[in-house]
Amino acid sequence: MKIIVTKNYDEMSKVAADLMAEVIKNDPACVLGLATGDTPIGMYNELVAKYEAGEIDFAAVRSVNLDEYYPITPDNDQSYRYFMDKHLFDRVNIDKANTSVPDGTAKDVSKFCREYEAKIDELGGTDVQVLGIGRNGHIGFNEPDAELERFTHLVELTTDTIEANSRFFASEADVPKHALTMGIHSVFKARKILLLASGKGKAAAIRALVKSNITTACPATLLCLHPDVTVICDEDAYSLV
Ligand code: GLP
Repeated sequence: MKIIVTKNYDEMSKVAADLMAEVIKNDPACVLGLATGDTPIGMYNELVAKYEAGEIDFAAVRSVNLDEYYPITPDNDQSYRYFMDKHLFDRVNIDKANTSVPDGTAKDVSKFCREYEAKIDELGGTDVQVLGIGRNGHIGFNEPDAELERFTHLVELTTDTIEANSRFFASEADVPKHALTMGIHSVFKARKILLLASGKGKAAAIRALVKSNITTACPATLLCLHPDVTVICDEDAYSLV
């Protein structure tokens, strides 16, 4: 695992965008595994700037997102589909037909999860998977548990995650109690993983990621089993290591 510690959030975003831009330049039809949350917003802004400067082109890029609340409709401004359109897809020349976000309106959830996993396989896995990290060490919505699921699945959110994400909703009661998320093996289908973290609120999770034993009690620790992981975090997120 490679660890890059940056001065602050802006530098973290720039370093991450540079790495993503390299992947796109190397293969204009690459498959990006994308994430939501506050953390990658700066990176998406930097990617849009690179696109506007003519440095990168999204015309042939394909993407798959990590997770989505369930149930939620795509027009809900808290849905991850809405987030992706707003922060990236509507600002670059990506073909929306080439973008996939788990469907928060799926009726038959098991069937949807099987199909989403098959889609990741059809794409040949992602060239790079962006990840944030939850305060409790979750990745995607793979929450700490005695066992972790391999593939895309429906998950019940922990109270910690509901509370952490309630800042985006009118009230905690409005946060969906479930989510669809790639599993650990789905994430591991990526050839390269970029995990981003910023701020003191993530310091304990980054400490666990870097120092603790591998444990499903902190799903991010599993990442040290993947051959190509780069952690980009700012000094605050790295402050407890
Ligand atoms: C959310 C998302 C994760 C994200 C994490 C951190 O619950 N499901 O994919 O990485 O929590 O979010 P943030 O970047 O806003 O701190």
